[in-house]
Amino acid sequence: MSRSILVTGGAGFIGSQVCKALAQAGFTPIAYDTLEKGHAWSVKWGPLEQGDIGDRSRLDAAFARHKPEAIIHLAGYIEVGESMREPERYRHNNIDKSLALIKAAEAHGVGHFVFSSTCAVYGTPKRPLLDESHSFGPVSVYGETKLAVEKALRARARKIRSVCLRYFNAAGADPDGEIGEAHEPESHLMPLAIDAMLGVGKPLSVFGDDWDTPDGTCVRDYVHVADLADAHVRALDYVAKGGAAPAFNLGSGHGYSVKQLIETTGRLGGKPVPHSVGARRPGDPPKLVADTTLVRRELGWSPSRDLDAQIADAIRWRRKMPR
Ligand SMILES: NC(=O)c1ccc[n+]([C@@H]2O[C@H](COP(=O)([O-])OP(=O)(O)OC[C@H]3O[C@@H](n4cnc5c(N)ncnc54)[C@H](O)[C@@H]3O)[C@@H](O)[C@H]2O)c1
Repeated sequence: MSRSILVTGGAGFIGSQVCKALAQAGFTPIAYDTLEKGHAWSVKWGPLEQGDIGDRSRLDAAFARHKPEAIIHLAGYIEVGESMREPERYRHNNIDKSLALIKAAEAHGVGHFVFSSTCAVYGTPKRPLLDESHSFGPVSVYGETKLAVEKALRARARKIRSVCLRYFNAAGADPDGEIGEAHEPESHLMPLAIDAMLGVGKPLSVFGDDWDTPDGTCVRDYVHVADLADAHVRALDYVAKGGAAPAFNLGSGHGYSVKQLIETTGRLGGKPVPHSVGARRPGDPPKLVADTTLVRRELGWSPSRDLDAQIADAIRWRRKMPR
């Protein structure tokens, strides 16, 4: 019998790619998702269980039916700006409901857990590269909710073995073109730049070009969603073998500026990206780049797709995606 893994948020951008990677590794991914933000069309590699992680009876039924041996928990709200406008809605969905999921896992004896966290737990960087020992200091409610769940998992370490994966900027699309990012509304830079270039979105707004960075625009660390998915499969194995590190950064270790991303998108898409420069956005650190030493050593993981590959896959996807 194939081994089942419960993937919460499995109909979302990253979760659906994780489901594909799990299926390729011989697991049966069970996508557990409300479909509030995710899409039924992106669930292709195992069953869809439509439900809320806060709904204990729905969860109990899914555990009983599929008997998962582990949980990969990606479900949550993801918008930094929205989290500042609606903090209680974010705390309820991301913290309270994650705690309910952890309780359900304990009750069903599922002791292996991989959690989608974020580099936003670190807040404003104190060093050029962020490693996992950097102090915590989230500046958004979103980051605060992720840190709260990390701490809750650490407090239950005797019952649940877990690892938290702190993603930097997830980007790209499935290299085979089967699935990709389809957020509504979209707020991530790469899809917005591509849509502007394709003429299906508004001209891109750049939040400031007077930062203390080489070209004045913010620098971020982008990692291909298929590389991220691969890291989850490795993380499951790591947890099963009793790996000790509580968290890993998932980034490339390289920073690219907003200007570089705009130029690369124009070059690969064959048309310039219409854009204008506006004011800085409060709370944006000028530079966020991962130190990936730990994840390379412990999981043997390193991203294999560079910014060009990410943008090329994302352009191909956005030309054909359901809108
Ligand atoms: N996209 C990024 O760059 C990025 C960076 C850092 C961390 N993350 C984290 O990765 C995870 C996945 O992000 P994504 O970009 O795929 O987002 P997404 O919105 O595409 O996926 C999240 C999924 O969770 C589902 N969901 C939300 N609340 C739920 C609930 N209470 N019960 C069941 N399902 C629920 C949504 O319907 C959606 O399908 C999130 O936890 C996010 O915080 C993403």
